[in-house]
Formats: sequence, C-alpha cells, structure tokens
Amino acid sequence: MTALPPAEARLVFRDAARLRPRVTLSAGVAAADGSDGGWPRYAPAALVPQPPWRAPTDAEWAALTQPLSDPSTPGNAAARVAILRLPEEVVAPLLNAGHRAAEQPHQAFEISRQPDAADAIDRVTEFLRDNGADAESIRSLGFCAKPRGLATATVNTRRRRRAGLHLDRFDARPLSELAESRVRLCFNIGRGDRYFLYCPHSVPQMAEVLGQSDPDGIDEIGRTFLEGRPDYPVVRVAVAPGEAYLAATEYLIHDATTQEIAEDWDIHVAFLCRLQGVGLLQDSL
Ligand SMILES: [Fe+2]
Repeated sequence: MTALPPAEARLVFRDAARLRPRVTLSAGVAAADGSDGGWPRYAPAALVPQPPWRAPTDAEWAALTQPLSDPSTPGNAAARVAILRLPEEVVAPLLNAGHRAAEQPHQAFEISRQPDAADAIDRVTEFLRDNGADAESIRSLGFCAKPRGLATATVNTRRRRRAGLHLDRFDARPLSELAESRVRLCFNIGRGDRYFLYCPHSVPQMAEVLGQSDPDGIDEIGRTFLEGRPDYPVVRVAVAPGEAYLAATEYLIHDATTQEIAEDWDIHVAFLCRLQGVGLLQDSL
C-alpha cells in the first residue's frame, strides 16, 4: 500500500503540557459489530475505532499538532482542531442547565428549550458573534445526552441507525468546497470528561489518495479509505466539563465515544458557525 501524505488536520494548542495527556490514538479501525450493546443498531458497513488506545509517540505528536504561536497557524482553517475553554461567564450558565439535563437525560433536548438554558445558548451565540462568527451562520443543535458504553455515539436519525465514523452534511457542499462548510463547536456540559474522535487526514486528502476527484458519494470516501487501512490511528481527545472542541466536522471524519466516560451520561451541546479570523483559538488549551 502506498504511504500516506502527512495528515492535514492539526490540533492547535497553547500549552502542550495541558493538551498532550488528553490525546490518545486507536489501534486501528474495524467494522462495528454491535458488541458495545448500544442502541440503535449500527448501519451496515459502519466503522468504529479499535482499542486499545495508546499515547502518541513524539513523532506522532509533532505530526498531529501545531502550537498556536507557530507563524504558519492558522493555515487551512478547516484543518484546525482545538479544545477551547471560553470565559466563565459564557460557560457557567450552560453547565448549570447541562447538570439539570444530566439528572433527566431523556429530556435533555427539551431542557435546552427552558428559559435559563435558552439564555445560556443565546450567550454563546453572542460570544461567537463578538469573536468572528458570521451571525447568520450560527445555529445551536440543542442539548444532547448519550449513555455510557457506546463505541461511537452519533445516530443517523433518518436511517435510525448509528452512523459509525462519519462526515457531517448539514451544509451538504461538494468535495471541492468542504473546507468552506461551517465548523462545529461542541461543549461538554456534563460532570465528567467526554471524548471526541477524528481522522487526521481530511476527506479531500482521502479522496486524493483514492484517486477520486469527483466522487458520486462523499459519504463513501471515508469508508473506502478506512476499510483499506485497518491499522489507521483515529485520534481521541478528552474534553473536560465546560470545555468545547472546535472542529470542521464536514471536512474531517469524526464521532464521539462514550466507552470510557466515568458518568452514566455524556451531556453536550453543539453549535454550527462560520468563523472569520482566529479569535476563538486564543481560548485554546
Ligand atoms: Fe458528526
């Protein structure tokens, strides 16, 4: 098999000592066999990362990350992943409402519509607008709760099947424009760490490796790429309560796992937005 080009995605950081212990790599990728016992069942041909998880080597760490102080940052904005800790006055109201959702996880989405939660969501929207997000582009997806134990958490609601590692398609752009899709900011509003997963080769890179310049099915690119590489190391990053991950989830194959969370439920709230500038990255770990 041909050697892969260097992965495009970079985890941006201010303080390596804070971020590095959060990052682990999978032993590879395999077909989801449903052995996690999660519901709903996986879609046919869904893929999940394979444990055991291990710390990256120094060479892997260097290849996967980029200090915020590096003059080549931002580079391609869609290739940046970051763990952000936004100001306390933005995060605290979200956490308050999130903790209530943790008590009633089956009502998490409804709780996000209650007045204090809606105010907390508005506060994030305002913060994003004041920090370089295009106001028209901002959308909250509401609170979401996932039980512990899932190899991957995302459900394709249309198909009522778990998706496995996947590409978001809210903006549904063609391959050549995926980098212009909105990014996702996803806050951990539970009481314990949660885990974001992503493939550091972007979907356009995967398409290039596969020689597919104009594929019919963008959704198939990641699957075809990964099926041929069972040793591919998926990156897993721990996101602590109150923190958010920032990632272009319409550019990078990704998901979340709840397999090693300490609490009964993973509680989070995601926002989509189009960012101009690098203002938000100043709040990176
Ligand atoms: Fe997703």
